[in-house]
Amino acid sequence: MIEDISAARDVALAAVAGAQTVDLLDQFVAEHLGKRGPLASLKARLGALPTVDEKKAMGQALNEATSAVSAAADAHRAVLAAVERRAQLAGERMDLTEFRRPPARGHAHLVTEAWERLEDVFIGLGFKVAEGPEIETDWYNFEALNMPPSHPARSMWDTLFVEHGAPGSTVLRTHTSPVQARVMTTQEPPIYVVAPGRVFRNETADATHMPVFHQIEGLVVDRGISFADLAGTIEAFTRAFFGSGFTSRLRPSFFPFTEPSAEFDIRRPDGSWLELGGCGMVHPNVLAACGIDPEEWGGFAFGFGIDRMAKEYHGVDDLREMYSNDVRFIEQF
Ligand code: DAH
Repeated sequence: MIEDISAARDVALAAVAGAQTVDLLDQFVAEHLGKRGPLASLKARLGALPTVDEKKAMGQALNEATSAVSAAADAHRAVLAAVERRAQLAGERMDLTEFRRPPARGHAHLVTEAWERLEDVFIGLGFKVAEGPEIETDWYNFEALNMPPSHPARSMWDTLFVEHGAPGSTVLRTHTSPVQARVMTTQEPPIYVVAPGRVFRNETADATHMPVFHQIEGLVVDRGISFADLAGTIEAFTRAFFGSGFTSRLRPSFFPFTEPSAEFDIRRPDGSWLELGGCGMVHPNVLAACGIDPEEWGGFAFGFGIDRMAKEYHGVDDLREMYSNDVRFIEQF
């Protein structure tokens, strides 16, 4: 009987080892270890054995055979299950790269682009870039610029005040001109700087105004500077920024910090004019307030809106569009 047990076990082991799928394996296990299987019918013969010892020995041999088959089946099942799982995953895999589009590349804000191009143009003309704080003292924003307290010209700027220090002593800078004073009080002439930056005014937004916008200030302090140097610089930058089809003109105007003062316009190729900013010869009072001897040094200054330049450059109708962050608008540039 022991040979029958071994034979039944070996057949069962061979069947289990040969199973190609978990289903087939389970089927073979059921056939060989089940109630109607060969080992079960051998077990049925135990009762007919003559001695207790023989029954015990054969019973043990049968149990061992059964365990060996079960263990082999379990091990093989694990292998088959892993293979089947891998095949299933491979079958269900989706190739998402099919849907891949190249990521859309953005670009700097139109005003940032204009700001950087302006810096490039002025650096090319020999200027250095300076900067100052957006929260400014009354002294730099007004007083150093020849506007003592309660000077009527202060009303040219709708000023936003910051609650800091004595009432009215701290403002959100209304223009980049205070950077002129910051440069002159800390640097020796000759001075050739531009100062781009953010400025603030208590104004309602409309197509050509924003309460927060950007200016670029220019300041030259040197010996023998004339109004012609100012006009030539403005003309050079106009052409460099907009192209050679554009020219500039100066119109007499008034600013407390320059004398004489002018406003400058640029002429588009179609002959129409765009008002861009103010300029003039630095007022002797401003030089003196900043510790520079007006008898020895002279200079010119200018300031204009960067947002307006970006608007003009790209042909945008409404300044507010540039700050709406509407992708349909932004994507056009
Ligand atoms: N700061 C003036 C403004 O905001 C613009 C300006 C005019 C700047 C004349 C200047 C200048 O430097 O000389 O309206």
